[in-house]
Amino acid sequence: MTDINGRTAVVTGGGSGIGRGLALELAAQGAAVAVADIILDNAQKVADEIEEAGGRAIAVHCDVCDRDSVLAMKKQVVDALGRVSLLFANAGATSFERITDMSENDIDWIIQVNLMGVTNCLLAFYPDMVAARDGHIFATASTAGLMPTFVPYHAPYSAAKMGIIGMLLNLREEAAEAGVGCTVLCPGGVQSGMKDNNAKYRPERFGGPGEGGIKVPDNWVAHGDLVFRPAEEVARLCLQAVRNNRPMVITDGNMRKTFEEGYLKIVMGAFDDVDAFDRSVEG
Ligand SMILES: NC(=O)c1ccc[n+]([C@@H]2O[C@H](COP(=O)([O-])OP(=O)(O)OC[C@H]3O[C@@H](n4cnc5c(N)ncnc54)[C@H](O)[C@@H]3O)[C@@H](O)[C@H]2O)c1
Repeated sequence: MTDINGRTAVVTGGGSGIGRGLALELAAQGAAVAVADIILDNAQKVADEIEEAGGRAIAVHCDVCDRDSVLAMKKQVVDALGRVSLLFANAGATSFERITDMSENDIDWIIQVNLMGVTNCLLAFYPDMVAARDGHIFATASTAGLMPTFVPYHAPYSAAKMGIIGMLLNLREEAAEAGVGCTVLCPGGVQSGMKDNNAKYRPERFGGPGEGGIKVPDNWVAHGDLVFRPAEEVARLCLQAVRNNRPMVITDGNMRKTFEEGYLKIVMGAFDDVDAFDRSVEG
């Protein structure tokens, strides 16, 4: 059982949406919180909200795509709040375009911010947790990673998010040997700022911030409907999963049926193809 009270937590992407919800809930449950975000003003607003409610928080600028920026953020957090034992590697950005319509910069950005963003944070914070034999790694993936056929025109994003799921579920085994917990969140959907603000998150080296929301195709979900839940509600679910060291959080129970229809059948079908191939070789 991982207590939240009395710990130091880092939340990347803490300035908005799910990250903001996590930061507020962590503080409400007694953690000191570092709100890390590429948009410092938003991180500061969340830290101020926490302090006004009687909690303890700092705001830190960080671009999770950039390992040096993550290490500089870590130094600031440890100096101000002490050893970090809860990491919420949550920052991300998305895209709803055919891969042939995306610039190379945008493809690199989507892979870097999602997959390497989590990896960079893991590299910065996990070794200290192993040394202390104490801590929890939490990362935000997506339903689009769990079911890569779920959302059309999402190839780099689905790849990066599936990578996060693979990394966290695999790490979970060795982390357990070191007394560290691991949980991966697969949201879909949660009310957040991404639809309107996504382009503002693009770091300079991938072309810099842009204006406007994401272009969502009309029929953008391939199977089933998405229920968009409040971030506060999802945050409570996430911290419960951390306390109990659950492997995964899925924010919508309807996804069980969608998973069976949209992913499981594809994988099982592939096994059937392999069987047929084997038979033809043998025969
Ligand atoms: N909302 C959903 O339904 C949903 C569904 C699937 C996955 N997700 C994932 O949830 C996570 C949080 O997104 P959200 O929906 O709350 O959106 P959001 O837009 O409200 O929050 C994203 C936050 O990440 C920050 N950020 C972006 N790039 C960054 C970078 N390079 N370094 C540091 N901070 C950066 C942004 O400034 C913003 O504060 C993302 O990883 C996203 O892919 C969300």
